[in-house]
Amino acid sequence: MTRFSKIGFILAAAGSAIGLGGIWKFPYMVGESGGGAFVLVFIVAFLAFGLSVFIAEMILGRASECDCFSTFESLAPKGQKYLKYGGVMVFSGLVIFSFYVVVLGWLTHYMVLSLMGLPKTLESTRELWGRFVGEQVGYQILWHFVIVALCAYVLNQGVKKGIERLNLILMPLLLLIFLGLLGYAMCQAAFVDSVRFLFAPDFGKLTPKVIVDAIGQAFFSLSLGVGVILTYANSMPQKGNFIRSALVVALLNFVFCLVAGLVIFTFIFGYGAQPDSGPGLVFISLPLIFANMGLSGQVIAFLFFVALIFAGITSAVSMLEPLNAWLIDRFCFSRTRANLTTIGIAYVLGVLLLLSNVALYQEDLSFFGKNLFGWFDYVSASYMLPLAGVFLCVFVGWILPKSRVYAMCEGHLSGKIFQVWYFIIKYIAPVGIIAAMIRLAMENGS
Ligand code: TRP
Repeated sequence: MTRFSKIGFILAAAGSAIGLGGIWKFPYMVGESGGGAFVLVFIVAFLAFGLSVFIAEMILGRASECDCFSTFESLAPKGQKYLKYGGVMVFSGLVIFSFYVVVLGWLTHYMVLSLMGLPKTLESTRELWGRFVGEQVGYQILWHFVIVALCAYVLNQGVKKGIERLNLILMPLLLLIFLGLLGYAMCQAAFVDSVRFLFAPDFGKLTPKVIVDAIGQAFFSLSLGVGVILTYANSMPQKGNFIRSALVVALLNFVFCLVAGLVIFTFIFGYGAQPDSGPGLVFISLPLIFANMGLSGQVIAFLFFVALIFAGITSAVSMLEPLNAWLIDRFCFSRTRANLTTIGIAYVLGVLLLLSNVALYQEDLSFFGKNLFGWFDYVSASYMLPLAGVFLCVFVGWILPKSRVYAMCEGHLSGKIFQVWYFIIKYIAPVGIIAAMIRLAMENGS
């Protein structure tokens, strides 16, 4: 079996974690929910919920060295082989991938537009975005295809030559672009406002809702609940401390999200725009600001979109790997055949999702007040990922004998630290994840 190198594993897992979710949602959450006070809560949520489940996925994948379904089947106690159906979590990867690559296609279009010049008024920026998503099917299909083909190419080379190499190239470049943007931001007067927005602690804003949101974000941001970390851990190098690797990945993810926030809000405050998140931030507020900054704005806009695309691509390639690994391990598919199957399905789904935003088809592709695109996003983040998270906690905390789990940690996690981690996995994490799930379901469902 070809394995990741140590740094390859860390970069691949960090590449999966650092993505659009963290960059366009996290900074806004921080600013809106108490700044430094929220950052503190997030660190706790990240360590308690995110990192604990991350480690759980890691030890399972490392112990079994096989796909998700087989992992649960082979580790399950006698007579409980039905637990293998926990492996259905790999299908969430397909669901997330399908809409994630549509967004990456949009970003690619905007990267090209940034070279040609973006509109300079709020009205025309809004109109550009509305027309692009709502009418311009041709461009969307073109860029979607380019992104999907790129992912297919990378995945087809396998874990070591494809995924590891992609991350070895893109992650340092991403870091470089971020540092450059951070350097530029630090020279601006508004940097102080950005720091204040993100760090000034306001403990009054820490409601239970905010705390539960932090748990949900910690979970989503670390790419948990799809089996990505579990599958990557199959190919982890045998030597080295894997707990340390998990910590490095979590730290990298955290730092990237914060830097993204510092940069983004420096521009927002420098130009008197309103803080926002999601597509409104990336496709309307920021392009407008960049367009009004002259030549430097054009360069920054280009680099910004490139950075988002890099961050997104390294996440996207990870999403299908658990499903591919299952087809390869269980059904003896060749890698190419597994890839063609999963990418093919994701491609068709992606086209439908993209059409569900287009005015002409929207009605046919909407159900119960939400279009297909909205449904995919909602169901995966609000139900599929958290349910898988709860399953992982129950499997490790309640189904497997404690002595077995201890042996699987093999001295990497021992003594008090093991006891704390085990307690979290058994009691705290499942409760927190269920609370986050209920919150998300209520918020998005209404
Ligand atoms: N962590 C990714 C981001 O922040 C998104 C993501 C969520 C993800 N769940 C995943 C990526 C599962 C890969 C696999 O953008």
